[in-house]
Amino acid sequence: MWDPQQYLRHAGPRLRPLHDLLAHVPEALPPGRDGPPRIADLGCGPGGPTTHLADRWPTAHLTGYDSDPAMLDAARAHARDGAPDTAGRLDFAHADLADWRPGRDERFGLLFSNAALQWVPGHQHAFPDWIADLPSGGVLAFQVPGNFTAPSHTLLAALRNSPRWRDRLGAPSRADDVLDPAGYAAVLTPLGCTVDTWETTYLHRLTGPDPVLEWTKGTALRPVLTLLADDPQSRTAFLDEYATALRTAYPPTTEGTDTVTYFPFRRVFVIAVKH
Ligand SMILES: C[S@@+](CC[C@H](N)C(=O)[O-])C[C@H]1O[C@@H](n2cnc3c(N)ncnc32)[C@H](O)[C@@H]1O
Repeated sequence: MWDPQQYLRHAGPRLRPLHDLLAHVPEALPPGRDGPPRIADLGCGPGGPTTHLADRWPTAHLTGYDSDPAMLDAARAHARDGAPDTAGRLDFAHADLADWRPGRDERFGLLFSNAALQWVPGHQHAFPDWIADLPSGGVLAFQVPGNFTAPSHTLLAALRNSPRWRDRLGAPSRADDVLDPAGYAAVLTPLGCTVDTWETTYLHRLTGPDPVLEWTKGTALRPVLTLLADDPQSRTAFLDEYATALRTAYPPTTEGTDTVTYFPFRRVFVIAVKH
């Protein structure tokens, strides 16, 4: 259960890796069946990022796929009320990436995904089918967080598995689901791709009270908030415990009149071009 408004509270820092990824995707994409390139935005979320793809490829027809109804509602507003130059070439559809497949008939030139594949366990096992359906010159480009050993995640996992919460919230960490750049290159190169992959650690400068808690409320905390949705008292108790631990791990500092918290965030980028 996602909350587009909470997710968009940090839209600025969340967009920066999207632009860093986009900057390295080749300009020329193979044509779609009807001429202009076809682009899939996998795990499109609230749709704003999809419009950046529409700007970069002004003739392309784009489809954003997501499994969350609230995110899809927010995304569809972009197709309905968006800029005139995206009219008729932007749409959104429900799909679970765990069993989604491009399909040869669609002839996608670009499969794009920003900050979504980490939610799909074993996503790299889908790559052989995804690459097989791409035309020559087709591109798979994605970015995933690689911060699962950071305090924001380890503290959350430890709290979920503590005696107080284990029975309701206990869950393993998802650290193994995301590979490092060399791991993705090792999977995609034998599939007939030339792979450009790298990692970047951003140092997000966040302001306001408990900003790391607010950030995780939009992403990593979603499963917990969903499990405690009908129990506000427990939800508040869990968030208080987690916020206290986060304040120690990410201490706020003062810059002039601002209270600032620096939040390091590692991300892994992959661009695979099919031969
Ligand atoms: C962190 S958001 C990223 C959204 C967007 N790509 C962006 O750049 O802002 C992750 C998105 O992945 C979607 N998602 C998670 N698991 C999914 C799955 N199995 N199938 C489809 N979408 C999924 C979520 O619903 C959410 O909208």
